[in-house]
Amino acid sequence: MTTAHRELAAEAASCVACGLAEGRTQVVFGNGSPDADVMFVGEAPGAREDEEGVPFVGRSGQLLDRLLAEELGMVRSDVYIANVVNCRPPDNRDPRPDEIVACRPWLARQMDLVDPSVVVTLGNFASRLLLETGTGITKLRGHNYRYGDPPRHLVPTFHPAAALRGGAGVLADMRSDLVRVRDLVAT
Ligand code: URA
Repeated sequence: MTTAHRELAAEAASCVACGLAEGRTQVVFGNGSPDADVMFVGEAPGAREDEEGVPFVGRSGQLLDRLLAEELGMVRSDVYIANVVNCRPPDNRDPRPDEIVACRPWLARQMDLVDPSVVVTLGNFASRLLLETGTGITKLRGHNYRYGDPPRHLVPTFHPAAALRGGAGVLADMRSDLVRVRDLVAT
């Protein structure tokens, strides 16, 4: 990690911009390579992440690691992984709009710092937030988008939790989305 990232994470660690600060064990800030080509954006930390302070260390994270290796030929330290909200919502409920708005600057600052060429949004929350749409992930996925200024590639795919629930079809779609990520990184 760079000094800039460590400083940003330290600043985020005491964030009280929304009510999620009350129930968290700790802030789960983004992590990985500070100069990654690929940045993943998930939804919110779960119980394991809240305990360990690292994103995607539970079952969803294990599946993400497998897909990273199998479709991108990468390990976690090759990419950067962040979330729409950095603190665990109580009982794993969905993050609320006010919480997403409050946490938005942290995601933006991580994006500026890492400066990835490809952003992969995992599931509805991250995809709708960054694409500024109400359309769901089932319709959004399967296409590449441009995001931000300077423009980056954005590839929306399912959240790994959906693949754990939804079985083979969802997993196959995630794999084909990640193949497109691999191709974008290679160009
Ligand atoms: N699910 C997410 O969206 N983020 C995590 O960090 C863990 C599970």
